Amino acid sequence: MRILSGIQPSGRLHLGNYFGMMRPAIELQEKGEAFYFIADYHALTSIQNPGDLRRFSREVAMDLLAAGLDPGRSALFRQSDVPEVTELSWILSTVTPMGLLQRCHSYKDKVARGISASHGLFAYPVLMAADILIYDSDLVPVGRDQKQHVEVARDIAIKFNEAYGEVLRMPEPEIRDEVAVVPGLDGQKMSKSYDNGIYLSEPEASFRKKVMGIKTDSTPVEAPKAVEGSLILQLYRLVATEGECRAMEASFLAGGTGYGEYKKELFRALWGHFAEYRRRRAELEASPARVDEVLAGGAARARSVARAVLGRVREAVGLC
Ligand code: ADP
Ligand code: TRP
Repeated sequence: MRILSGIQPSGRLHLGNYFGMMRPAIELQEKGEAFYFIADYHALTSIQNPGDLRRFSREVAMDLLAAGLDPGRSALFRQSDVPEVTELSWILSTVTPMGLLQRCHSYKDKVARGISASHGLFAYPVLMAADILIYDSDLVPVGRDQKQHVEVARDIAIKFNEAYGEVLRMPEPEIRDEVAVVPGLDGQKMSKSYDNGIYLSEPEASFRKKVMGIKTDSTPVEAPKAVEGSLILQLYRLVATEGECRAMEASFLAGGTGYGEYKKELFRALWGHFAEYRRRRAELEASPARVDEVLAGGAARARSVARAVLGRVREAVGLC
């Protein structure tokens, strides 16, 4: 089974990226052959500073490795190291109905937020379909906001196969319901665009400050607290054991403890969860050649699969 996912190097990664996409993707590497890539062609739709793009691409690579991606088992590579994907994207665009792209939320949302609507931003789901289909992917772990794009990839594969025969393999999205949307400090979806995130690379003092600043209601210390909808509990459940979660819920219902105490416990649990990540991240920062080597090895593996699938496609459409 081939597992594939990508992440855009468009800024520092936050807990939403980690729990929504990175951790599930890393856990899945046990279940099949995983290909994970840094979506730098995609990031060009929002970053026009070459220094930033290079820096963020490396940071994402280090973050994935530090979070547990095992380069002995899985391939980690830069999207642009497999340029075949842009050729497939063009071929797929010729079977993609305009209406399919016009319905995509993420394009509509970005335009609504004032990001200028380039053709690249509009056509981005076609490139994403090419990313998925060029590796004969079976499973695509993503956060819920990307589900529609995986469905678009399926629709495009169906269109292509209707026109040219059974050439492309049909992918399935994999979305973890329990972490489908990680809330940010203000209760909205955590996102780098909303300035409500806790970043993986956050230094201890600001990590603590952000946790202590999580939005809570004004229930007095003595009174029972609402378990439903509590941001503290939602974040705690991502890292605490079942027993710890039950204990905190029981204490919420009993009353007598202020939110400040729960936030301290949440900080302890979150900060502790990332201890191993911080250790590995510091090691990687000290050995840039190691990161280059991993990316080169991953690109070579990915590229040989991509060439074979693109070969099938070129043959099917009559380009060779
Ligand atoms: P952002 O919203 O910060 O720009 P991206 O859109 O670059 O994040 O998302 C990268 C990956 O992380 C995607 O797979 C996305 O689904 C996942 N992701 C981002 N934010 C969250 C969140 N708050 N909860 C769960 N998953 C998320
Ligand atoms: N669009 C995804 C995001 O913004 C990143 C991505 C690009 C991706 N190509 C992909 C994810 C293919 C999964 C599969 O997060």
